[in-house]
Order: sequence, then C-alpha cells, then structure tokens
Amino acid sequence: MRALTWQGTKDVRVETVPDPKILNPRDAIIEVTSTAICGSDLHIFDGVIPGMQAGDILGHEFMGRVVDVGPGSTLKKGQRVVVPFTISCGGCFFCTEGLYSACDNSNPVEKQDASEAAFGHAMAGIFGYSHLTGGYSGGQAEYVRVPFSDVGPIVVPDDLPDDQVLFLSDILPTGWMAAENCDIRPGDTVAVWGCGPVGLFAVQSALLMGAGQVIAIDHHPRRLELAASLGAKVVNYRETHVAEALLEMTGGIGPDAVIDAVGMESHGLAPDRLMDRAKQAVGIGVDGIHALRSAIHACRKGGRVSVPGVHGGFADSFPTGAVMQKGLTLRSGQTHVQRYMPSLLHRIAEGEIDTTFLISHRLPLEDAAKGYQHFRDDQNTWTKVVLKTPASGWTG
Ligand SMILES: NC(=O)c1ccc[n+]([C@@H]2O[C@H](COP(=O)([O-])OP(=O)(O)OC[C@H]3O[C@@H](n4cnc5c(N)ncnc54)[C@H](O)[C@@H]3O)[C@@H](O)[C@H]2O)c1
Ligand SMILES: [Zn+2]
Ligand SMILES: [Zn+2]
Repeated sequence: MRALTWQGTKDVRVETVPDPKILNPRDAIIEVTSTAICGSDLHIFDGVIPGMQAGDILGHEFMGRVVDVGPGSTLKKGQRVVVPFTISCGGCFFCTEGLYSACDNSNPVEKQDASEAAFGHAMAGIFGYSHLTGGYSGGQAEYVRVPFSDVGPIVVPDDLPDDQVLFLSDILPTGWMAAENCDIRPGDTVAVWGCGPVGLFAVQSALLMGAGQVIAIDHHPRRLELAASLGAKVVNYRETHVAEALLEMTGGIGPDAVIDAVGMESHGLAPDRLMDRAKQAVGIGVDGIHALRSAIHACRKGGRVSVPGVHGGFADSFPTGAVMQKGLTLRSGQTHVQRYMPSLLHRIAEGEIDTTFLISHRLPLEDAAKGYQHFRDDQNTWTKVVLKTPASGWTG
C-alpha cells in the first residue's frame, strides 16, 4: 500500500510499504478514504516530538471502511467508521473512568520507558505519533490496523459525507474538551490563543456552551476571519497589545477562562519565546510556552486555564506565581475522544455543528508531503488539509 512515512525532521515521503494485518483478536483493518493533517503532525514534522524512527507511518485523523476484522471486533466488514486518535482498551481503570487518553493497556510496556521517564506515567497509544505513544502506524495511508476496534471507532451513517464527520477523530472533540475544561458559566468571557483548527473548534464549542463573549487571538488574518465568522471577537497580536485589549474587553478584570490552543511552537518575537526557542534548538526538551504564559498572565483572578495545545517536555519560567497567587485552575490533556464522539456526531447530524468551513485544501494522499509543507508555511490560507485516497472516489 501507499503511506506517508517520516524519514527525519522536515522530511516526509509517500512510499510503498507492507499492508497491515490483523495481529490481535480485537483488531480491525480500515481502508482509509479521508485523512487530515493536524497541528500535532507539524510538531513531528518539525522534529520537536522525540521518539520517531525513520519509516514510521504518520496520521491520527482518519476514517474509512472496515475491510477485515478479528474475532473480538464488534465492527462488520463494509461499515463506514471514524477512528479516534487515542487508542484505548475500554476496560482499564482509566478507560472506565472515561479517561481514554490515559489508557493503561494501549502503550505496550516495552515501549513505555521514554514516556514514563518524561511524564512519570506512560500515556495511551496514539496512531502515528512516535514511539512515546506506542509506535503505532498511522492513518495517512491506504490501510491501517486499528487495535481495540470494539472501543474506538464510531460507525457513521452513509448520508453524512467524509468531510462532515472526519474531524470527530480529533480536532472537534479536542476543541469541545478545551471549552468544557473552561467550566463555562452563562455570560463568561473566554479568550482563545491560536486560531488553528483546535482554536476555531474551541471558539465554536465555547459559544455553544453559553459563553457571553469569546475572544480569539492569532496573527493570521484569514484564520482570524474564520474565528469572527463563528461569532468571536478577534485580536491580532501583531497589531494589538493582547493583555491590554483583554482588560478593556472585560471591564478591567480579565477573561474568566483562557485556552492555550497554540502548544509548544508559539510564534512571535517576544523575548521569552526567543529564549524558549534557543533552548529548544539545543535539544534539551524545553517546551515553548509563550502562549501559555500569556494566557495565564491575562486570566482573571480565580479563573480557569485550559490547555489543549500539545506540550511534551519541560517548561522554563513557568508562571507558578500567577497560578498560585491568582488561584487559577489548570486543566489539560490529550483528548478523551471516545467520550465525546457520539454526542458530537449527533450534533453534526442535526446540523447544529458544521465542520466543513475549516477545510481549505483537499489533496490526493500522494501529495501529502506538499500538504505538510504548506500547512506549516502558509498557515494563513492553508487552514486544514484533507488527504483523499483512491478508495474515496474523490477526483479533485
Ligand atoms: N490535546 C489534544 O488532544 C490535541 C489534539 C489536537 C491538536 N492538539 C494541539 O493543539 C495545538 C493547535 O493545533 P492546530 O491543529 O490548531 O495547530 P495549528 O498549528 O494549525 O494552529 C496553531 C495556531 O496558533 C497560532 N499562534 C502561534 N503562536 C501564537 C501566539 N503566540 N498567540 C496566538 N496565536 C498563536 C498560529 O498562528 C496558528 O494559527 C497544537 O499544539 C496541537 O498539537 C492537541
Ligand atoms: Zn490531530
Ligand atoms: Zn484502557
């Protein structure tokens, strides 16, 4: 089959690789029709996520048709499914608590050493996301093996096209959980750093949850335009002093909740960001937390800080003083995707949520490397890239 492989920093290639096979009774094989490139993939592309090996198949946002099942799978051949990026067993302590991204059984013990050392505990397996998270082959490919297929994938009705449901695999639940972690009360002000796919879905979700005003912060005019079209007030951090603007827009007290939807690769020329970059460049595992610092600084006293943005190492100059002195609550995590898929699918089917506004480019899987380069370098207009395989029947 054809699949997008990681070969090194900023080097991804579509190559011919062996087809996946059923390895365990609960596995299913999915013939992928649509798969998206995520901001999280860019962290891998840029070489800031450790644990990648040459030849690893990328991709954690994908959907398609079931073509083979093990005896323990509840799926049936021919069913159309969206697959969550988190691989979860459904039966461990964490899965039964609904903490799917903390599953204790999907990141095999012999591969956990690095994440245990880095985080204290191993995380769940994630498709196409380094050997820190199990080294599973991803779904930017014609076929993919899906472990625990009786727990993860959701069957979608044939009348909902791929582009409407694909984002159930990650960014839609991620934006939703980011807003949920803000514990929004009616009328609250929520400020969102980053108007990429995650930030935009966080904006949409926060408004659906009853926020009185959502303020979206970025520097790309097109992305800010999309945030405004969802109902957000927008702040371009290149033109406006963000902290002052937020005070002005909140009667001088600051937002009730703030969301870091940027993660470890913050842009800009702020001195603290340049210091983070210099340390990142020498490979000592330092996270870029400029956006998170700004969010914590701006948040009102007693407010909530939600961090969907991915961080993978250790932070320097983390504002512990602001967190403690202002009495902030901080919530984060890889998304517990399985928890949110059914209700969000229902909202899509009811026409309450549209996700297609985000897609700026559709490309054949063969052009995946081009998609990565543009999604990274032309962020303003390349807001989301969906890759189509030959099985999708898409002709451009
Ligand atoms: N928690 C999860 O499970 C989960 C799931 C998916 C993605 N993510 C993470 O969420 C983050 C966003 O993902 P995405 O796909 O939207 O990425 P993206 O790279 O497309 O978007 C990031 C946006 O942040 C903006 N930005 C950069 N620096 C900024 C700053 N200082 N202030 C304000 N905006 C700034 C960029 O201009 C860009 O528009 C990434 O870190 C990604 O890894 C987390
Ligand atoms: Zn993703
Ligand atoms: Zn589990």
